Amino acid sequence: MLGGGAVAGGVVLVGGDPGVGKSTLLMQALAGLSGPNAPALYVTGEESAAQVALRADRLGLRRLDHLLLLATTDLGDVEAAWERVEPRVVVVDSVQTLRSSELESVAGSVSQIREVASRLTDLAKQKGATLFLIGHVTKEGALAGPKVLEHLVDAVVTFEGDRSYSFRMLRTAKNRYGPTHEVGVFEMGERGLVEVADPSSLFLAERREDAAGSVVVCTSEGSRPLLVELQALVAPAVYGSSRRVASGLDQSRLAILLAVIDRKAGIHVLDQDVFASVAGGARVDERALDLPLALAVVSSFRGRPIPGDLVAAGELGLTGEVRAVPRLERRLHEANKLGFRKALVPKTHSDRIDRKVSKAIEILAVGSLAEALEVSGVSS
Ligand code: TYD
Ligand code: MG
Repeated sequence: MLGGGAVAGGVVLVGGDPGVGKSTLLMQALAGLSGPNAPALYVTGEESAAQVALRADRLGLRRLDHLLLLATTDLGDVEAAWERVEPRVVVVDSVQTLRSSELESVAGSVSQIREVASRLTDLAKQKGATLFLIGHVTKEGALAGPKVLEHLVDAVVTFEGDRSYSFRMLRTAKNRYGPTHEVGVFEMGERGLVEVADPSSLFLAERREDAAGSVVVCTSEGSRPLLVELQALVAPAVYGSSRRVASGLDQSRLAILLAVIDRKAGIHVLDQDVFASVAGGARVDERALDLPLALAVVSSFRGRPIPGDLVAAGELGLTGEVRAVPRLERRLHEANKLGFRKALVPKTHSDRIDRKVSKAIEILAVGSLAEALEVSGVSS
């Protein structure tokens, strides 16, 4: 996720909703990172030392000989412990709970967060230790605290997950030392987080191949491709204005695509209620979702299923043209690995696809939405 490992002197901000598993993730990470030559410091301002110990127990991490636990909300305590322990890795859980007594304001205020983060960042740089700052996410989905926090740190990763599912996704939003948009998939079990080695099969497990409105997308937000099922349900609007509800994808993008479908493919969906979701509770934030989303909408509207062995990826422009997507080859490899036989992709790529891949999977290269609908058999 961090592009090769924890960097000495690097500061990583870990954001996520309360309860998603941030403390669990960092405790497990510390267990791996600490050792005889790498003392670690875990600062908790959220929980008591006993609560943290209980979690470590549950995770089967009873003997963490090189991990020092400090329960405090005072920044001065943290700095003193840092000097004493000389840790190689420090976790602060969370940045919002610490407070400098030199400032008047309360913990969690903008000035305190800035002060805490900048003083700890200075220490990390000076001592060559890796610092993980845990931060909460507000209702609006932004990392709480000022934007300045994001500028101060070297990497920002967010931990996401839907409460109704056990899997969690870790994403890099910023990384000074490595690639961004990496995605790690974990499952929260009885004994902590376990990496999901084959997330694509997890997300496709409950898929019904013959259902109209369902299509498989090959996404690739980081270096790792991921296949997910996208579903759309189109129904006549009963109230005055039609509704668009999106889950796991961008709602305004859905609205734009409906206009493109209506105007550029001549399929009149604007007066319909349209619901779209990424099945299984995953979230996809990529333009490559455009084409599959349009296909799913039309498939549902026409009541015509999309072939079960087809995957799709492509950006749609406002004139209905299908535009290129990054890392197409990796997407196709993943699709092939999972047994898909056909791939609907942007025409601009078709001459650049590796022969080996195109032998294994039939490439359906399309230049426009109308063409894509035709090829996938949902146009009439
Ligand atoms: P936690 O790491 O405390 O979340 P955060 O720090 O982001 O608030 O974990 C939250 C949830 O995870 C909690 O509801 C209990 C659950 N959990 C498990 O299911 N299995 C486990 O092994 C652990 C430690 C927690
Ligand atoms: Mg926590």
